[in-house]
Amino acid sequence: MDRTKSCYFLLPFLFTLACFVGPTWCQTEAEILHKFKTSLTNYGPQLEDWNASGPDPCTGDDPNWTGIHCSNGSVFGIKLENMGLECVIDVDTLKGLQLLRTVSFMNNSFTGTFPDVNKLVYLRVLYLANNSFSDAIRDDSFAGVKAL
Ligand SMILES: *[C@@H]1O[C@H](CO)[C@@H](O)[C@H](O)[C@H]1NC(C)=O
Ligand SMILES: *[C@@H]1O[C@H](CO)[C@@H](O)[C@H](O)[C@H]1NC(C)=O
Ligand SMILES: *[C@@H]1O[C@H](CO)[C@@H](O)[C@H](O)[C@H]1NC(C)=O
Ligand SMILES: *[C@@H]1O[C@H](CO)[C@@H](O)[C@H](O)[C@H]1NC(C)=O
Ligand SMILES: *[C@@H]1O[C@H](CO)[C@@H](O)[C@H](O)[C@H]1NC(C)=O
Repeated sequence: MDRTKSCYFLLPFLFTLACFVGPTWCQTEAEILHKFKTSLTNYGPQLEDWNASGPDPCTGDDPNWTGIHCSNGSVFGIKLENMGLECVIDVDTLKGLQLLRTVSFMNNSFTGTFPDVNKLVYLRVLYLANNSFSDAIRDDSFAGVKAL
């Protein structure tokens, strides 16, 4: 086997390895959102349609999951307001949504330190008013966020 062929031979293996090392590369948006849902401790029946085995979150520009905004088949925004949700916001999971641009978690009971919003570098709109964060916004909370 020459060198080129052995490279092709290795590709599936490398891809599997990449999935193992960085799972968000290989997850669907439904799986990522479902994972985010399971990080919430007290969601109610409102999020029943957040089900990775059911319809996709987006069909074209039409959402099929509560609180999701879609653009061309991808999740563009998440709006979960007034739901009494509690937990630390799992930014690392949301980071897997490549086209996520708008987020509102207004008027819930999210706790922990102010979220590392700077991991969502393409975010344009963010509403977090009336939650229960334990500290102030840090100087670097928005460092590197380009278009907010
Ligand atoms: C998720 O969707 C599947 C397929 O539509 C359904 O069988 C299942 O009961 C749903 N699960 C929940 C928790 O709603
Ligand atoms: C999702 O689609 C199903 C049918 O495919 C529909 O009954 C349901 O109302 C939709 N949910 C939302 C939130 O649009
Ligand atoms: C929508 O997605 C399709 C397939 O990924 C792509 O070909 C098309 O250019 C996109 N349209 C817009 C308006 O972004
Ligand atoms: C804030 O959320 C609570 C539920 O946790 C709701 O009862 C209340 O009406 C909401 N406030 C506003 C201004 O929507
Ligand atoms: C802020 O949250 C508290 C506790 O959940 C709630 O009682 C209050 O109505 C909320 N205020 C607004 C303006 O939503």
